[in-house]
Amino acid sequence: MRMVDLIEKKQHKDPLTEEEIKWMIENYTNDTIPEYQMSAMAMAIYFNGMTDEELSALTLAMVESGDQIDLSEIDGVKVDKHSTGGVGDTTTLVLAPLVASVGVPVAKMSGRGLGHTGGTIDKLEAIPGFHVELSQEDFISLVNQNKVAVVGQSGNLTPADKKIYALRDVTGTVESIPLIASSIMSKKIAAGANAIVLDVKTGAGAFMKSVERAKELAETMVNIGKSVGRDTMAVISDMSQPLGKAIGNGLEVKEAIDTLKGKGPDDLTELCLVLGSQMAFLGGVGSSLEEARALLEENLHNGKALDKFKTFIQSQGGDETVVAQPDTVLPQPRHSLEVKAKETGVVSKIVADQIGIAAMMLGAGRETKESQIDLAAGLYLHKKVGDEVKEGDVLVTLYSSNEIHDQVVEKVLNHIFISEEGSKPTLIYDIVR
Ligand code: URA
Ligand code: CA
Repeated sequence: MRMVDLIEKKQHKDPLTEEEIKWMIENYTNDTIPEYQMSAMAMAIYFNGMTDEELSALTLAMVESGDQIDLSEIDGVKVDKHSTGGVGDTTTLVLAPLVASVGVPVAKMSGRGLGHTGGTIDKLEAIPGFHVELSQEDFISLVNQNKVAVVGQSGNLTPADKKIYALRDVTGTVESIPLIASSIMSKKIAAGANAIVLDVKTGAGAFMKSVERAKELAETMVNIGKSVGRDTMAVISDMSQPLGKAIGNGLEVKEAIDTLKGKGPDDLTELCLVLGSQMAFLGGVGSSLEEARALLEENLHNGKALDKFKTFIQSQGGDETVVAQPDTVLPQPRHSLEVKAKETGVVSKIVADQIGIAAMMLGAGRETKESQIDLAAGLYLHKKVGDEVKEGDVLVTLYSSNEIHDQVVEKVLNHIFISEEGSKPTLIYDIVR
């Protein structure tokens, strides 16, 4: 086989065979196929797309390019959730114990954050003592015992995806739905998921700026999942404004605890119930999404989800008194500053990505892989889109271990709009199944 022939085939919109795709991914991963040929292929895919058959072959070839996590010793259907990334997305911290509390195993492998989107591992590390370095044996036995454990990324998962992603980043081919879809699905499958729930974000803070593109991505991923034997569902959810009210690692732990007590922000609570219902249903709990949701709601109100969170924290070395006293146990910032509204009206827009960047400037996120995170830093939105404000009301409180610069205040004020009119944005645009 010659790579140049495959490139020309794709250029002419002739589908590649499974054998050709396997050969290409194998030989690109082992550096036999040079970067310039794979660049040309990525561009041909960018323009000409891929058929369903090509997509499942590509996804499986990427899965097979590296290690695969074997979760077969865990009882039950292993359901994983993936979010395409957003600002202040606290869902995993809530969903892991919530879904585990109805008996569905949550064996989560998570990463750290980069840029203005936070990582679940960083958030959990705001809890003193909590650690994610677990051996494969300990990870599996914790999930069997408690139905929930979170482990840091290890092993050599989907090296083909790592190479292709780095190449796409510098060749203008990141924004290709088949390439995004196979990239995300290959990672979930390699991490051992039997079933997958996808939270595809749309809006200013998201990868997919329009609902139409988000829906197309969701449909593509759900199709891939089904074609490779993984039950998959997706939610299209809003990321025009940040999710919930807290952005920042320690602050989001506290927000997750509030949510598990049934006292969380409306949008975060609702999204967790929608995603959680899908996870529980795919995990075999409840005969419909509605029934699964009712069980989750019950556990939010009777304290079982919160108890599960405590067990989870304790079993990974964390201080579970964080649940009763988040303000004394979580890292506290030395500095805080209230940003006040300069006019009266209704909040009409909170630009998610820019507010995420403000949180990063306060120390809540990493600018480069090497940056140290300030676990106490971040911001709290007292008002969300659709809320009325009066001049002088506190819009946002900023928190940092370092002095807070005017630059951050300006950034926040420039990206929260107050108008005569405004209404709550749609939270869930669609469900794809
Ligand atoms: N996230 C991924 O994991 N892969 C992509 O290609 C885009 C977003
Ligand atoms: Ca949040």
